Amino acid sequence: MKITSLEDLENIARKGLKKLNPDNKVRISVGFATCGISVGGDDVFKTFKEKIYERKLNNLELCKTGCIGFCGEEPLVNIKMPGKSIVVLHRVTPNDVDDILQKIENETYEFHKAFFKIDDWDHVTSKIHYGDGYENIPKWNEIKFFKPTKRVVLRNSGIINPEDIDEYIAVGGYRSLYKVIKSMTPDEIIEEVKKSGLRGRGGAGFPTGLKWEFAKKEQSDVKYVICNADEGDPGAYMNRNEMESDPHMIIEGMIIGAYATGATEGIIYIRAEYPLAVERFKKAINDAKKYGLLGEKILGSNFNFDIIVTEGAGAFVCGEETALIASVEGEIGRPRLKPPYPAQKGLWGKPTNINNVETWSNVPVIIAKGGDWFSKLGTQKSPGTKVFSLVGKVKNVGLVEVELGTTIDRIVNYIGNDGVNNGKIKAVQTGGPSGGCIPENLFNTPIDYEHLAAVGSIMGSGGIVVMDDDTCMVDTAKYFLDFSIDESCGKCVSCREGLKHMHDILDDITKGKATFEDIDTLKELAQTVKVTSLCGLGKTASNPVLTTLKYFYKEYEEHVKHKRCFARVCKDLIRYVIAKDECTGCTICAKRCPVNAINGEKGKPHIISQNVCVKCGICYDVCKFNSVKKLSEAIGGEK
Ligand SMILES: Cc1cc2nc3c(=O)[nH]c(=O)nc-3n(C[C@H](O)[C@H](O)[C@H](O)COP(=O)(O)O)c2cc1C
Ligand code: SF4
Ligand code: SF4
Ligand code: SF4
Repeated sequence: MKITSLEDLENIARKGLKKLNPDNKVRISVGFATCGISVGGDDVFKTFKEKIYERKLNNLELCKTGCIGFCGEEPLVNIKMPGKSIVVLHRVTPNDVDDILQKIENETYEFHKAFFKIDDWDHVTSKIHYGDGYENIPKWNEIKFFKPTKRVVLRNSGIINPEDIDEYIAVGGYRSLYKVIKSMTPDEIIEEVKKSGLRGRGGAGFPTGLKWEFAKKEQSDVKYVICNADEGDPGAYMNRNEMESDPHMIIEGMIIGAYATGATEGIIYIRAEYPLAVERFKKAINDAKKYGLLGEKILGSNFNFDIIVTEGAGAFVCGEETALIASVEGEIGRPRLKPPYPAQKGLWGKPTNINNVETWSNVPVIIAKGGDWFSKLGTQKSPGTKVFSLVGKVKNVGLVEVELGTTIDRIVNYIGNDGVNNGKIKAVQTGGPSGGCIPENLFNTPIDYEHLAAVGSIMGSGGIVVMDDDTCMVDTAKYFLDFSIDESCGKCVSCREGLKHMHDILDDITKGKATFEDIDTLKELAQTVKVTSLCGLGKTASNPVLTTLKYFYKEYEEHVKHKRCFARVCKDLIRYVIAKDECTGCTICAKRCPVNAINGEKGKPHIISQNVCVKCGICYDVCKFNSVKKLSEAIGGEK
C-alpha cells in the first residue's frame, strides 16, 4: 500500500498503536540491540518464545525492542499488560522466564526483577499514556540514571519495535516528511533547520542548516545525501544504538534533507562491524518503499529519492567525510584536500551533503516541533541535546542523552554514580582518541562545543570514558596514540611519522627510560603534528598527550624523575611482593603463577623471585587475603 494522504498515515498509526499499546493482549518486548544481545538478550527472547508456545499463551505478543540506554542493566524486558504501565525488568536471564510468565498468567504482577515503570512517555513527535498501576515500582524518571536526561534523539529507543514501521508511524513518525512534502518549500525547510541552530553531531559542530543551503545552491542533475554511520572511536557506540533502536527516524531525516537540498540518492555508510544496524536499515528501507515513503513519487508527489546501504571495512579515518567519499567510490579511504567541499564536489564529483546519524535523527523533530522549540534546548551557541556513551570507571554504564550545557559532574557523578562522588575519579576523556583528558577539578565544565575546546578537548561524536586513581594518565595518552597510529592513513609525513615518534617517547616514559628533554620534544612534536596534518585525525591526535601534559604533569614528572607510576599500571615500574606477616601460606598464588616465580611451604609465608616474575598480576588477583602487594617505589628513596 502506498501512502498518499494524511488519512492513510493515520490508519497505519492506529494499526501501529494497537501493537505498541494493545488493549486486549499482553505485550512482552525484549531489549534486542547489540548491548542487550551481548549479555544474553537473545537467549531470553528464545526462551520466552519456547515457553509461550509450551504454555499455549495465545493472548501474548512477543517482540523485540531497541535499547533504552541503561546498557549496564541489560537484558531489559518490558511487560505491558492491558491498561497498565509498562514494567521494565532488568538483568533478566532465561531462568526468570517461567516465573515471569506464571505471574502474568496468575495476574499477580509482582515481578521480582522490576526496575522501573513507564506510565507516560513523550515520544516528542507524540505523547502516549501507556497505563497506570504498580504503586511500589518507581517511575522511570525517578531513577537517577534517567532523571537529568532529555530524550529527543532517543525518543523511541527501547519502547517501539525497530523492525516495525507501523510502530514508528504510531508515535508520530513520517508526519514531518508529510508536512514538508505537502506544505513546505525547500527554502522554508532550510530556514527552519537554521532557526533550530542544530550543529553537526559528527564532531565538528558545523551548522546543519547552512550546510544544506550550500548543497541546495549548487546546480547539478544529480546530488547526494550521505548518512555518516562509520562511528569508530573507542568507547563510543551512540550511533550504533540509535540505528539499531530507531532506524526510521534517521531515514525520515535523510528524506527531508534530500527534499530540501534537491538530492535524488542517499547513501548510508556504515561499518561492517555493525551487522544488526545494517540488517535493520535494509528492512526499514524496504518497508518505507512499500509505503511509498521512499522511491518514486514519494507520498504521491513528484519527488523521487532512494537510499542504499554501503558497508565500510571499519577504518576510523573513513569517518572523515572526504575519505568516506573515496571509500564509497571504491578508492583507498584517504582524506582529500578541501576545498572543494563535498557540498560543491562530493561523491562522484557531484554536490553531496554529509551528516552524522544523530544529526539526521534530530531533523524530524525540528520539523514537527519547530526550530524555535529546538533552539530553546541546550545553550544559545550549542542548542539541542547530545547522546553520550558513558563508559569506564562508573557504576551506571550506558547511553545518556542530556541537553548541551550539562556539566561533566552531572553526567559522571549523578547519572554515572547515582549522585555519589566516590572520591576516586580523576578524569574523563571526551571525544574519543582525538579528545582530551579533563581533570576532576574541571568537572563543572558545561559540555558544549566551546567549553570543551576551551579546556583542550572536543565533543567528538560523544564518547565519555571515566578514569579513576587506578588509571595512569601517561599510559592513557599512549593508548589513544596507539589507536591513532594504527588508524592513520599515512598520507602526511607529520601524522605518519610524528605520531610514531611521540609514541616512542611515551613508551620510554612508561618504562622509566626518558629524560625531561624528551618531554620537551614530545610537546614540540605534538604541536607540530597538530598544525601540519591534513585531516582531523592528525590535527587532533595530539590532544590526549597535550591535555595529560597540561593537567597531569606530576605523573609525567614522577615517571621520569623517580621512575614511579602512581597508578601502578606501567609494568616496568612496578613489582609484586608478598607481605610476610599477612601470608597464610595457602599456596593458591604459587599454583596459579604461570612461571613458577612463587616459592614457599604450605602454611608458611611465600616469597616471589623478582628475577623470574613476569608481572602478570595473577597472584595479586587470586590472593584472598590481600597479602600480595603491588608496589611502585620511587627510585632515590622516596615512597
Ligand atoms: C578521523 C575522523 C573520523 C571521523 N569519523 C566520523 C564518524 O564516524 N561519524 C561522523 O558522523 N563524522 C565523523 N567525522 C566527521 C566527518 O568528517 C564530518 O564532519 C561529519 O560526518 C559531518 O556531519 P555533521 O555535520 O552532521 O557532523 C570524522 C572526522 C575525522 C577527521
Ligand atoms: S592527517 Fe593522518 S589520517 Fe589525516 S590524511 Fe594525514 S596521514 Fe592521513
Ligand atoms: S595466595 Fe596469598 S595467602 Fe595464599 S600463599 Fe599466596 S600470598 Fe600467601
Ligand atoms: S605477578 Fe605473575 S609472574 Fe609474578 S609472581 Fe605473580 S603470578 Fe607469578
